[in-house]
Amino acid sequence: MISEKEAMIQRHSVRNYLDKKIEEDKIALIQEKIGELNKEGSLNIHFSEDAGKTFRSFLSRMSGLGSAPSAIICSGADSDDLEQRVGYYGEKLVLYIQQLGLNTCWVGMFSRKQAEKLMPAENGERTVIAIAVGYGETQGKARKTKSFEDVTEVFGDADGAKGAEQAPDWFREGVEAALLAPTAMNQQKFTICLNKDGSVELIDNGGVFSRVDLGIVKYHFELGSGHKAL
Ligand SMILES: Cc1cc2nc3c(=O)[nH]c(=O)nc-3n(C[C@H](O)[C@H](O)[C@H](O)COP(=O)(O)O)c2cc1C
Repeated sequence: MISEKEAMIQRHSVRNYLDKKIEEDKIALIQEKIGELNKEGSLNIHFSEDAGKTFRSFLSRMSGLGSAPSAIICSGADSDDLEQRVGYYGEKLVLYIQQLGLNTCWVGMFSRKQAEKLMPAENGERTVIAIAVGYGETQGKARKTKSFEDVTEVFGDADGAKGAEQAPDWFREGVEAALLAPTAMNQQKFTICLNKDGSVELIDNGGVFSRVDLGIVKYHFELGSGHKAL
């Protein structure tokens, strides 16, 4: 199995899937991982082998996502940080699924009503987002990305270009990983601040699903840098 870092580099959103079921042993591994992540993140992430009509809206069908055989529905008890936790632990799951040789796409424009039909009934839970899963027709492709300077603030200096020279290697590696993170509509609306005391803070600059994005970006930063981010 490839490493988690390798999976992070290889992962791209995939929207067109083969008509091929996921093997039982891989489903069992995904279920086991979800059990661990739900515990760690106090979430209710649910895998459904049959995506049902979760990705059957007009827009989803246009983008190809209607071909995804399986779905992951991310929900949890409502709280201020629910979206960020869904992003953080959901991306851990996405990278694990990539390690298993499968493909994924985070999908904000899913049918909530249809997705909830796949969920065991849980009172007071909020469904945040879905993830399409299956064997892609292709592995997807690299897309445009912002630069280190665009998304960082080093030692309180918003002029990233100057800060770049002062930043330690671990921070640069973390930012590189963060720039590989999927974000809604590839918006990458976040700032990663390296403070003088060595702490790292992530700032959400707003946008659709930007709180989920921030959790995803945080996990990538931590995986790339080996340092925690606030
Ligand atoms: C929170 C979130 C919501 C997303 N929603 C959709 C969606 O509704 N439809 C879609 O086709 N892609 C969706 N995406 C995938 C992004 O468009 C994709 O991650 C981005 O363009 C970067 O490409 P990459 O994932 O290949 O790196 C979403 C991604 C995230 C993180």
